[in-house]
Amino acid sequence: MRNGCFLIPFTVILWSSFVVTLVANRVTSITTDQDALLALKDHIVNDPQNLLTTNWTATTSVCDWVGVTCGTRHRRVRALKLSHMGLTGTIPPHLGNLSFLVFASFYNNSFRGSLPDELAKLRRLKYFTIQKNYFGGEIPSWLGSFTRLHTLSLANNSFTGAIPPSLFHLSELDGLDLSNNDLQGHIPREIGKLSKLRLLYLRHTGLSGSIPSAVFNISSLQDIDLTGNMLSGSLPSANVTMSSLRIIGFGLNNLTGSLPSNLFNNLPNLEGLYLSRNLFHGQIPAALFGCTQLKILSVL
Ligand SMILES: *[C@@H]1O[C@H](CO)[C@@H](O)[C@H](O)[C@H]1NC(C)=O
Ligand SMILES: *[C@@H]1O[C@H](CO)[C@@H](O)[C@H](O)[C@H]1NC(C)=O
Ligand SMILES: *[C@@H]1O[C@H](CO)[C@@H](O)[C@H](O)[C@H]1NC(C)=O
Ligand SMILES: *[C@@H]1O[C@H](CO)[C@@H](O)[C@H](O)[C@H]1NC(C)=O
Ligand SMILES: *[C@@H]1O[C@H](CO)[C@@H](O)[C@H](O)[C@H]1NC(C)=O
Ligand SMILES: *[C@@H]1O[C@H](CO)[C@@H](O)[C@H](O)[C@H]1NC(C)=O
Ligand SMILES: *[C@@H]1O[C@H](CO)[C@@H](O)[C@H](O)[C@H]1NC(C)=O
Repeated sequence: MRNGCFLIPFTVILWSSFVVTLVANRVTSITTDQDALLALKDHIVNDPQNLLTTNWTATTSVCDWVGVTCGTRHRRVRALKLSHMGLTGTIPPHLGNLSFLVFASFYNNSFRGSLPDELAKLRRLKYFTIQKNYFGGEIPSWLGSFTRLHTLSLANNSFTGAIPPSLFHLSELDGLDLSNNDLQGHIPREIGKLSKLRLLYLRHTGLSGSIPSAVFNISSLQDIDLTGNMLSGSLPSANVTMSSLRIIGFGLNNLTGSLPSNLFNNLPNLEGLYLSRNLFHGQIPAALFGCTQLKILSVL
């Protein structure tokens, strides 16, 4: 009886490690990566420079394909850099099988359609830059599960809807660019959770509502550009200390009220302050003259 009790959990452990090994083996082969990339090639309908057409062939190693970099240790696809290739096509779900992918760039091509949900499996991603394409649909909420994500650029696409709240779980995020999309809704106050954010670009996105004061709580911020939205309300009059802040771009919105003096007390590295085409009134706060690095002040 005693032996039996001992044996059952032992068997369970053996069995589960067997299953884990099986699952791991199914996804840890360079052939999986090759199949995923060949599926991508199949989804390219125009390749004007014949880059993938002539180069991505099963007779050579995936690691030697143009735009592909493999890790030195695992020899699995680590980076996919397909920027400026003039490619037209869609992203197949198979790309989610590139389980070692850290860097993915599709910058400046003509990809369209939505991002398949299978990409949610790319848990190692640190850089995801797909700006200047024709991607559409809502911004997928699974982007928020990439816990190591450092740079996310979806700029210059046709994404619609609200900013998914899950994005604010990306605690390692350094750069977020959603500019030039057709978004709706507000800038959620949870944005303050992005405590490592350095670059925040939300230009021409269609966002409305006020600028949450939590934005001024992100002490790492260097550039914040909210130009050309429908933002309203006044600026918070909190005493903020943002010693890295270099650029504030709030122009072309519907912001009102006076410029709060407190806001500019501790911005020692502010170089550019763009506030023009809003509904501000009152005087330029004296605190601004304490921003000794200020080179551009645009208020008209
Ligand atoms: C594919 O492109 C890479 C990088 O430009 C090059 O080193 C390789 O020789 C090319 N392979 C073929 C089969 O053209
Ligand atoms: C985009 O890529 C094309 C080549 O397909 C290139 O001619 C163009 O200069 C690139 N544009 C930008 C903004 O980099
Ligand atoms: C890869 O992804 C596709 C589509 O998501 C799937 O059908 C396929 O079985 C996956 N696995 C491998 C090992 O290719
Ligand atoms: C995005 O589009 C805008 C407006 O057309 C342009 O000024 C900007 O350079 C583009 N940015 C990128 C990254 O392509
Ligand atoms: C700013 O951060 C402080 C300290 O973490 C917190 O107590 C405060 O509520 C935050 N303010 C906003 C507006 O998020
Ligand atoms: C600013 O508000 C006015 C009046 O509510 C509205 O007509 C206009 O479209 C708004 N402009 C922007 C850029 O939000
Ligand atoms: C804000 O900062 C200024 C200058 O550092 C200081 O004189 C003032 O008392 C502060 N106000 C608040 C409410 O903390």
